[in-house]
Formats: sequence, structure tokens, C-alpha cells
Amino acid sequence: MAATSPSIRAQAYARLRYSDTGHVSRPWRSFHLLVVGLGLLAIAISSLDGLPPWLSGILSIAVMATAAIFAAEYGVRLWSAPESPRYAGLSDRMARLSWATSSSGVICLLAALPLFAIVFGSIHADNENAPLFCILWVLGLTRHAPAMGTLARVISNERATLTSVLVIFVMVLIVSATAMHIVERVGQPKLFGTLPDALWWAVVTLTTTGYGDAVPMTTGGKMIASVVMVSGILVLALMTGILATGFAEEERRREYLRVWDQVTKVPMFAELGTVTLSEIVGKLRVRNYPPRIVVVRRDEPGESMFFISEGEVEVRLPRGAIALGPGTFFGEMALLDRLPRSATVVTTAPTTLLVLYASDFYEIASNIPALVEAVEREARRRHTENQGGAKATAG
Ligand code: CMP
Repeated sequence: MAATSPSIRAQAYARLRYSDTGHVSRPWRSFHLLVVGLGLLAIAISSLDGLPPWLSGILSIAVMATAAIFAAEYGVRLWSAPESPRYAGLSDRMARLSWATSSSGVICLLAALPLFAIVFGSIHADNENAPLFCILWVLGLTRHAPAMGTLARVISNERATLTSVLVIFVMVLIVSATAMHIVERVGQPKLFGTLPDALWWAVVTLTTTGYGDAVPMTTGGKMIASVVMVSGILVLALMTGILATGFAEEERRREYLRVWDQVTKVPMFAELGTVTLSEIVGKLRVRNYPPRIVVVRRDEPGESMFFISEGEVEVRLPRGAIALGPGTFFGEMALLDRLPRSATVVTTAPTTLLVLYASDFYEIASNIPALVEAVEREARRRHTENQGGAKATAG
């Protein structure tokens, strides 16, 4: 028994990891999302007035079940925390403590808290405090969004530029609020009589929200408001631009590393020098496919070819199927001959492909003639093989 426990624990840890792509982890993630969705829906419906008692009962059970599932998840994650490579070398107790105090542990605990509130407190699904559960459960969704990590990195990378824009924002805010206070305080003492009141107006206007609760009446006030409104649009546009560029840049870097990882598994590329390799890496895209997915369909137009870095595909030809494994490629015939696809190609295992679009293929053709020649040679061989097969079938 003692010998089997660690492996069960390791398996539990691996299955619950959000980055795991195994056949248990994916359904678990979908189930997790479904549970959050149902829990939120139950609380939203519970907040309606005049529900029949039977429906309230069902909703209470749904909320309780949601909370119980998150509490169980917390328990399993806490128990399996020592399996995390991050806590290698720590005792089980210290590893669990480290996980429990990490952001991931705290978010997980918050999602489980409603169970204690229900069991030990008096909060039910239709209680006025129950909507609090929504916040706790929605926080857990951050684990489903890897882009949150990207956002944090983008903000960190662009902090100098973002700070400059924020400083401009604060300057415009204070100058406009002070000016409005001076110009409008006599006419509208309730709305602009104090600096905090004027600041509230400036925030609402500068962010282009415009509640309309405080409106300038004097000509001077209207002129100031016009400048503030235009400045607001400019500042928001600047912020959006900085974040969008940062996101695109970060995504490009991540994709580059992902492609580089996969490219080294394809012998054709591994033989190229570093400079040539880095050129082609910028043109390839990584695509992951589960088994039984049609990647290209016979007779459809083709604008890209695919290199297999992991997994296996099946080329379905009239005379039978041919399996292609890691290091090989397909989709080159339509690309070179500008003809429709000659066969349907389907994945037979979880497969990672590197996609090269036609425009990029011709762009690298001049710099890496050896690669293009190898692709052309194989395309000719396949063409001859298919024609031979077709004649044999006809004969
Ligand atoms: P394309 O015609 O673009 O799309 C189908 C692909 O199947 C084709 O390119 C080739 O890459 C691949 N293919 C066709 N015939 C063969 C073959 N005889 N052996 C291996 N692959 C093939």
C-alpha cells in the first residue's frame, strides 16, 4: 500500500495540472468550467424573486454540490502538492504549506470557502450574501486563462511606457479637476464645490464614461470639458496601443520558442545552420491536433504544407492508406503544383505539426534551396508512385 500511494498521488497531481494535455486532464478542465458555469447560473436564478420552493431546493443543492466539488479539488491539490517539481527537496508538510500560501492555493481555497459558509454558517443559495460565491468561483477561472500570465508579463515589459502614460493621465486629471473647481464652484457648489467632487467629474469624463451626474454650465467649464474629453480619448488610445503591441510581441516570442522546440525534432531542419534555422522558425506555426482530425481534404485547394514533429498521420489514397511519422511532411504537392489536394490526410494519434504557408515557402526557397529541392524530389516521387498505383488499380 505504502508503495502505491506516491504513484497515485503523482497521477492525481499530473491530471489536475492545467498545462497537462492528457486524456483525463482535458475532460477534467471542461468539467471544471461546467461546474463553475452551473454554480453561477444557480446563484443567478436564486436571486430572482418569487421562485417556487421546489426550484429553490434544487438550486440550493446545485450550489452546495458546486461548493463540495471545489472543496474536494482543494483537498486533492493540497494532498498532491509535494509532487510538484517546484517543491522538490521540501518535506511533504512544507510543500503543502508552500502550495497553500501560493496564489494558486489561495484561489483554490477561496473557491472551496462557500462549502464552509453553507455547512457552518447560514448562507444558502437564495441568501442575499450568496452572490459573493460568484466572485470566489469566477476567480478560479484565471487558471483556465493562460493569457493572464501573458498579460502580467506584458505589463511588466511595458511598465516604463505605461507609467509615462499614467503620469500624463494623472496630470490631466488634476489640472482639469482644479480648473473645473475654480470655474464651476460658484454656480454649482454641490457638484464642483470641493476638489474631490471635481476629481470625480474628471475621472468620469477622462475615462470617457460620462455618467452625466455633473455637467459644466459656464463657458469656461465647457471649454475645459472639451479638452478633457479629447485628452481622455488620446490617453486611452495610447494605453490600448501599448498593451496591444506588447501582447502581439509577447505572443510572437512564445510562438518562436514553441516552434524552435518542435523544429529540432524534424531532421530536415536540424541539419540547417543556426542563422538559416532562425529564419525558417519565424515562418513556421505550431498546430496541435488530437487523433482522427482531417488536416487536409482531397480535392480542396491547398495553401500550406505541414512538417510532422510529433505523432502520426494517415494519407488516404485510393489504393490504400500510408502512415507518415515524425520528421516527414505532407501537403507539398498542392503547394508546388498549384493543384487541389491529391489525398485526405487524417491524424491517427495526438500530433504536432509545423505549418508553412505558400507565400513563406517561396520566400525561403531562394535562401534554402536544399530544403526546397528535397521537398520537390519527394513530391515527384509520390506523384510517380500515385500514378503507378492508379494505373495498377485501373489495370
Ligand atoms: P497534397 O496533394 O497537397 O495533399 C495530400 C498530401 O498527401 C500530398 O500533398 C502529399 O503530401 C501526401 N501524399 C500524396 N501521395 C502520397 C504518397 N504516395 N506517399 C506519401 N504521401 C503522399
